[in-house]
Amino acid sequence: MDKQTAQPKPFLTDVKELRERARKNIASGGVTYTYQGDVKKTIEILQAVLATEIVCVLRYTMHAVAATGISSEGVKAEFAQHAKEEQGHMNEVAERINQLGGRPDFNPTGLATRAASEYGNAGNLVDMIKENLIAERIAVDHYRELIRYFGDDDPGTRTMLEGILRVEEEHANDMHDLLVAHEGRPMLRG
Ligand SMILES: [Fe+2]
Ligand SMILES: [Fe+2]
Repeated sequence: MDKQTAQPKPFLTDVKELRERARKNIASGGVTYTYQGDVKKTIEILQAVLATEIVCVLRYTMHAVAATGISSEGVKAEFAQHAKEEQGHMNEVAERINQLGGRPDFNPTGLATRAASEYGNAGNLVDMIKENLIAERIAVDHYRELIRYFGDDDPGTRTMLEGILRVEEEHANDMHDLLVAHEGRPMLRG
C-alpha cells in the first residue's frame, strides 16, 4: 500500500502493526509511516524559517550591544532577552529539520536571502525598535501562514510553529510598547 495514498486512516492502528512499522522505519528517524506531508518540502520551508530565526538572533544581539544613550538600558535588556529567545527558536527549528532527516543549513553564505526578515542598518535606538517591530510583524504573518499550511498533515511542525508564533506576537507587542515609550506615538497600528 502506498503510504501517500493510504486514505482514509483507521482511528487507531493496531499496536503490533505500529511496532512493526516503527522497526522497519527506524532508519528514517522521526519521519514515521503516518507522516502526511511532503517531507522534502517541509524541510525546505523549515530551512527558510531557520534562516529567519538566525537573522533575528544576529539583529537583536547587535542591537543589544549597540544600543546607547539616555534611557537605553531597559531597551538593551529587552533586545538581549529577545536575542536569547530567538536563539531558542533557532535551535528548535534546527532540531526539527534534523528529526525530519534534513541537515540544518547554518551556512552564512546566502543567509540573508534565505530569511524572511532583514538584518537592518538602524543607526539609533528608535530606528532599531522600528526595525525589530517590522521584522516581528513579518515573522508573525509568515508563521501564521505556515501553521495553516501544515494543518493536520504535520502536527509536530505545526505545534512547534504555534509555540514560536506566540513568542513572536509577544515580541511584536514589546517592540510596539517600547516605540510608544520612546517616541510617544504608535506606529503601524492595526
Ligand atoms: Fe523567533
Ligand atoms: Fe521574535
